[in-house]
Amino acid sequence: MGGPSAEREVSLSTGHMCAIALREAGYTTVEVDADRDLAEKLVAMKPDVVFNALHGRWGEDGCVQGLLEWLKIPYTHSGVLASALAMDKQRTKDTYRAAGLPVVESRLACKDEVRARHVLPPPYVVKPFNEGSSVGVWLVMEENNGPPQLDDAMPEVVMVEAYAPGREMTTSVLGDRALTVTDIVTEGWYDYDAKYKPGGSSHVIPAQVPQEIFDACMDYALRAHQALGCRGLSRTDFRWDETRGLAGLVLLETNTQPGMTPTSLSPEQAAYCGISFPELMRWLVEDASC
Ligand code: DAL
Ligand code: MG
Repeated sequence: MGGPSAEREVSLSTGHMCAIALREAGYTTVEVDADRDLAEKLVAMKPDVVFNALHGRWGEDGCVQGLLEWLKIPYTHSGVLASALAMDKQRTKDTYRAAGLPVVESRLACKDEVRARHVLPPPYVVKPFNEGSSVGVWLVMEENNGPPQLDDAMPEVVMVEAYAPGREMTTSVLGDRALTVTDIVTEGWYDYDAKYKPGGSSHVIPAQVPQEIFDACMDYALRAHQALGCRGLSRTDFRWDETRGLAGLVLLETNTQPGMTPTSLSPEQAAYCGISFPELMRWLVEDASC
């Protein structure tokens, strides 16, 4: 848990919640903040399984997965390739497209280009292609707002994506089973605060949407999980423009290390399906491999 990514705090919360539930499930746990000495710590500790509770860069992008493969320690969630693919939002979309899954137009652009002109006609979104939890996301709604003046914290190459209007929905996949669809209701943008502050958003489970849309989310999430080669648990996020019916449903991204904080979506979806948090932990530990 933890680690150096922009989602460190989220990961500490995820890790702590998972450790409590793992103990309830009967496992002996040690909570490890993933620092530069992680390899040495793991060699000294010799764990039977690493429960990966990291989010974002180094923990969700194939890096730590590669280390665990190298050390031959079984670990939960996706392996190296699926993690790396899913962390890169542009390559994720290439993979979705190849699998026949609907996405909105996007492309990678240099920061200077994005500052100088509208790379796509507004409205559009500018985001790091490899961060989660809406860290560093810019929304450009109007032509006359001018291009976004990205700050130095943004990476040199960013993703510019046509703004997909509509409702925010999400579906977790556990193994070969899509769990359910959650409709995420927020006052405004589903940003970092809305994601993690208690009361920042409300979750309608199951989503009250037409059966055709519900079924499409379940089908698309499973196909996304499979196309990316995910293992264990993943969560695919959607936007649905209800004025356009099924044509208004697009995939945004797949998270290979979905949040497990008290306000997170996957544990709620599992619970809706009758899988308690400790049971979810047990499932993931049993599924671990290297
Ligand atoms: N990136 C956060 C942790 C999530 O997708 O749940
Ligand atoms: Mg994400």
